[in-house]
Amino acid sequence: MAPALLIRDLAQVASPAGTGAPLRGADLRRVDVVEDAYVHCRDGRVIAVGRMRELDPLDGDVVELDGRGLVALPGLVDCHTHACFAGDRVEEFDLRARGASYEELHAAGGGILSTVRATRAAGEDVLRTALELRRTAMRSHGTTTWEAKSGYGLDRETELAQLRAVAAVGGVPTWLGAHAVPPEFDDADAYLEFALAEVLPEAVQVAEAADVFLERGAFDAVRARRYLEACRRAGLVLRLHADQFTEAGGVDLAIELGARSVDHLEATQDDGVRALSATDVTAVLLPIAALVLDRPQAPARALADAGAAIALATDFNPGSAFGESLPLACALACTQAGLAPAEALAACTVNAAHVLGRADRAGRLAPGYDADILLLDAPDWRYLAYHVSGGDVAIVVEHGEIAWRR
Ligand code: NIG
Ligand code: FE
Repeated sequence: MAPALLIRDLAQVASPAGTGAPLRGADLRRVDVVEDAYVHCRDGRVIAVGRMRELDPLDGDVVELDGRGLVALPGLVDCHTHACFAGDRVEEFDLRARGASYEELHAAGGGILSTVRATRAAGEDVLRTALELRRTAMRSHGTTTWEAKSGYGLDRETELAQLRAVAAVGGVPTWLGAHAVPPEFDDADAYLEFALAEVLPEAVQVAEAADVFLERGAFDAVRARRYLEACRRAGLVLRLHADQFTEAGGVDLAIELGARSVDHLEATQDDGVRALSATDVTAVLLPIAALVLDRPQAPARALADAGAAIALATDFNPGSAFGESLPLACALACTQAGLAPAEALAACTVNAAHVLGRADRAGRLAPGYDADILLLDAPDWRYLAYHVSGGDVAIVVEHGEIAWRR
């Protein structure tokens, strides 16, 4: 049996308070903080968190980790990424910097479709190796639980290869079968006919959720409904990319279909905020994508005030959000979208774990949860959002063992 782990003499241990998920309203701001603290893990789980002066002598084989000058947080949960891709879009980044728009590039066959070409050409082994490197990068920013979508294959072989690669590297796979219409199909209906008949039956063997890009130039609400209803019948949890550029019915569809989440929401107005707040659909905020595409931030403050369940994710992808740092997403959420540090923490831990159906084991640093722990080289847990250049992540523990250290 692996030895137990004791992280001792920590400046602070901080964790979203309570036991339920998702957190909303005032509960989003409640953080349990223990000063001069220890964390004791065994068999991959946290078994105790407390004050050093209350630590009893431990029996048996224990590895001790010196936590002086460090704060411990639950490992971060990135519930929305497109980390499984080949190639890059640096040329488009350059064009956008000189005035081209994301939607124009997409309409001209670039954007998502340019990554589709590179991903189709890569093969499963190359994809998997690239994803392993990105998983290490995510870890170096404190992420221990992560989701990644397909959506850069849009053919049977490559969609399934993406999903298998995500599962093999330890992520939570989402089938984004409706990301764009690939060039070999005349229209969205013909493509969906193929995807639902030929890809869905095997995608459900690997994926936990289905996702759709509901937007002008991608899939409209009628097509999104068709795709999502079929995916729901097949047993997948539903998620949507909606209101990124336009309000096109995505919020209402998410609510009507009982989706787990609706993500982006940069264009969502008051009615959408009100509608979402009364439901169990989690609003996933993606502030790095808004920053990179120079879009307004989603109405995070209004959503939190209205009592909506909110989560925060990177949207890590080669086009709209080429960055794997949840601490950066927290910094943007606090400085550009009006969240308090406590709300940002809950949004990328317990509430993100809820989106991934893992809130019983991830997203809190408390007894019974997985021993996935982020140690920041900082005097206060709020450095997570405060230190905009990041770089405070000192050690990442996964399943009670050191998985990464700087
Ligand atoms: O969430 N908007 C749609 N999908 C992704 C971007 C994917 C890409 O540009 O490659 C997003 O921003
Ligand atoms: Fe996305």
